[in-house]
Amino acid sequence: MGKIILTGDRPTGRLHLGHYVGSLRRRVELQNQGGFDKIFIMIADAQALTDNADNPEKVRQNIIQVALDYLSAGLDPSKVNIFIQSMVPQLTELTFYYMNLVTVQRLQRNPTVKQEIKLRGFSENEDGSDNKAGTPVGFFCYPISQAADITAFNATTVPVGEDQEPMIEQCREIVRKFNAVYGNTLTEPEILLPDNAACLRLPGTDGKAKMSKSLDNCIYLSDSAEEVTRKVKGMFTDPGHLQVSDPGKVEGNTVFTYLDAFCRPEHFERYSSCFVGKKSSFSFKSLDEVKAQYRAGGLGDMMLKNFLSAILNDLLEPMRVRRAQLEQNLPEVWDILRKGTQAAEAEAAATLSAVRRAMRIDYFNDSELTGLK
Ligand code: TRP
Repeated sequence: MGKIILTGDRPTGRLHLGHYVGSLRRRVELQNQGGFDKIFIMIADAQALTDNADNPEKVRQNIIQVALDYLSAGLDPSKVNIFIQSMVPQLTELTFYYMNLVTVQRLQRNPTVKQEIKLRGFSENEDGSDNKAGTPVGFFCYPISQAADITAFNATTVPVGEDQEPMIEQCREIVRKFNAVYGNTLTEPEILLPDNAACLRLPGTDGKAKMSKSLDNCIYLSDSAEEVTRKVKGMFTDPGHLQVSDPGKVEGNTVFTYLDAFCRPEHFERYSSCFVGKKSSFSFKSLDEVKAQYRAGGLGDMMLKNFLSAILNDLLEPMRVRRAQLEQNLPEVWDILRKGTQAAEAEAAATLSAVRRAMRIDYFNDSELTGLK
């Protein structure tokens, strides 16, 4: 069957650094390594609608934004298939059949669903017996729709962030159940997590859990250099590090978490000037040396932040340039999406035929049943 990747993002906003280290960077590497036969990258608009039913315009507008983020981050449409979820109707049909293989109780136990229901204020307690608005059924079922996304393409590998682990586990259960009930049809996927611990869960600039638009703690891939510098300046560090001479804490210090995620050996030489000051200067060769100096005291937050801004802008500048070029020719970007969607639909249609055959609901193909030739 070959090695096949499927992954994607909800188009509810522009993509940020959390998306980049959590999965986008990996996707570009996987694309360039060439170890996969097919790579599908999905803009999950239907999933985005499960908690944005009253705001389809937001989802609509962000489809092109996410596509621009993908392409400017280095996804190459000659190597990957970028497509729009809702334009592949087979995915909703598969979801409907998979729904019969999952219990309400199992969905209620899904930790990501539980957490997201609370986060969105749908309900405070598990049975929903409070006065909150309640959880949309479609939202509650999105792990099932995600299993449809993955299996429709016979994906073997799903590169996603850690928060998606329960989704992949639930997908694997659906595959096992389907194959046990209807015969071997679907492929059981593996999750591919980011390899660097700091990338597993990049905190927001406020040091809080994850980057999220609603918390206003994101650095977007499309932010200008000035915005990045301003956001890094405002970053949470070690609240006990009041004087430059004080010993500082590295653990839980957001600037260091970001350096763990983004700093590479060549940055020390390229940005050595960040550590040259009026009062003191340092010459670091590795992040370990920077950490040791910070712990010992004498290294100020400003130097660190200047270093981090330089590193982030070094990463983002080529993306800004590519984005500006792509923005000059949006019809071309839409055409990439249209072609990718056509190819995705062909793939999903083949899986759906196999699913219908396995479930024996392909009635008109069964001449024994219908007597038709
Ligand atoms: N849930 C993912 C997110 O919020 C998006 C997504 C939808 C996805 N379907 C998927 C990811 C299938 C991987 C596989 O980012």
